Amino acid sequence: MTSAHFQTHRRGAVLIGLLALIGACNVSPQSAPDKPTVSDPYDQSKMDLAPKPSVTTQDRPAAPASLPALHKLPDTAPAGDAAGKLVEVRLDATNKVIDLAPNVKYAGWTFGHEIPAPSVRVRQGDRVRFVMTNRTDENLDGLNVSSPMMHSMDFHSAMVSPQDKYKSIAPGETLTFEFQANYPGVFMFHCGTPPIYEHIASGMYGVMIVEPKDGYPTKVDREYVLVQSEFYAKLDPQGRKIDGVPLYVFDSDAMLRKQPTHVVFNGRVNGYVEHPLVAKPGERVRFFVLNVGPNDTSSFHVVGTIFDRVFYEGNLGNEMRGMQTVLLGASNGTIVEFVLAEKAKYIIVDHEFTDVRLGAVGLIDATGGQPAARPPEPEHPHGEHTTAPTPVTPEQVQHAGKELFTQRCAFCHVTAAGVPRIAPDLRGVTGRRSKEWLTRWLEDPAPMLVSDPVAKDLLRQWNNVPMPDPGLDAKQIEAVIEYLGTLTAGSGTAP
Ligand code: CU
Ligand code: CU
Repeated sequence: MTSAHFQTHRRGAVLIGLLALIGACNVSPQSAPDKPTVSDPYDQSKMDLAPKPSVTTQDRPAAPASLPALHKLPDTAPAGDAAGKLVEVRLDATNKVIDLAPNVKYAGWTFGHEIPAPSVRVRQGDRVRFVMTNRTDENLDGLNVSSPMMHSMDFHSAMVSPQDKYKSIAPGETLTFEFQANYPGVFMFHCGTPPIYEHIASGMYGVMIVEPKDGYPTKVDREYVLVQSEFYAKLDPQGRKIDGVPLYVFDSDAMLRKQPTHVVFNGRVNGYVEHPLVAKPGERVRFFVLNVGPNDTSSFHVVGTIFDRVFYEGNLGNEMRGMQTVLLGASNGTIVEFVLAEKAKYIIVDHEFTDVRLGAVGLIDATGGQPAARPPEPEHPHGEHTTAPTPVTPEQVQHAGKELFTQRCAFCHVTAAGVPRIAPDLRGVTGRRSKEWLTRWLEDPAPMLVSDPVAKDLLRQWNNVPMPDPGLDAKQIEAVIEYLGTLTAGSGTAP
């Protein structure tokens, strides 16, 4: 459908709505409801509302090597043309340790051995044949973190009996059911086995995109899929480590207090700051966004642009124009489309800024340079595991320090003109203070502001504006100090 066609169609719908309203005043209670004069895109007589019963078997059928409807985030690809085809979706329940943040290995539960699960993309009217084997009794990566238990699958894109299709299956069992994707949208799917919050917070969720029958009215240069979710993590009480890094596990107390320890896009703290999404200046971009929760909203926003079109929940009937922020409750999805006007790095945030502090931030690099490298594919062949590369050369450490400084510190220490704003000029600071002092200061400034004479003096000099906790870990502190060491007292501009 063309954009013009779409607009005409919408005006027609509004007119019919008005007529129906006027007509309603004169209609006697006995009269039969009017026959619709335009075809309803959600005509229930054309939907499969009686899908056949689910089947549970006691075997573990081999999974196909690849399925065209499944995509690893953030990438996606259009659904095939014909609506009404049968689409196979296989997502097994597994256990997996993920790299949630630097030095945070999290014992996750998955669909399809990814957190979030691979996204599913089909066309409105397609039939989905879903297959899931519960493999949580298998030690898939040789890490001995398997946690055998019941799991299930709940597709928000389906209209089916929850008792039949969303039943829990035991390790070693395989569940199969079918449904028709009747409505277009950006839909959540998740495990529905109690306690549901634990299954969702452990990683059992993903997004299913159902494209409208006739596609989207707009043309875009790029599409990405972003899933926001919260993690509630604590150090493993058993003290387990993976590759020398402490293992974290689900913290039910933090969950009950609704205090997440990490809020992330696509399963990684600051993941797209480390490895930005790529676009070119002037391009039109379409994001499919889902907020999983399980508890909190997302005030989804991109710094430096306006959402030209928003199709809330991914449905063309819910079109909004010119929005700055889209509020997504737990399990709401949306499409946002926007243009990146200038050559720049655009910043993706949950505008609830504590969530940015907890990891819900990313970049779209539209500086037009070489495309940034994609995050390394985590490969976990049996018995072997790799660790993410860490900075090794002094240049890499300084570079990492500069990035951190720019993100966390620069705003207070420097203006665009290069002069100090509300905090000291840091050129030559490593000559004025010892590394030990700077390390303590960056670890936690609060106690030093009351006990350390130098810190107390700085506070007086800078109008009693205290240095906030920059939230850096030990490695990051070292990197920032390395970077500060490159700023000599005589260098041209302040950092
Ligand atoms: Cu589950
Ligand atoms: Cu649900």
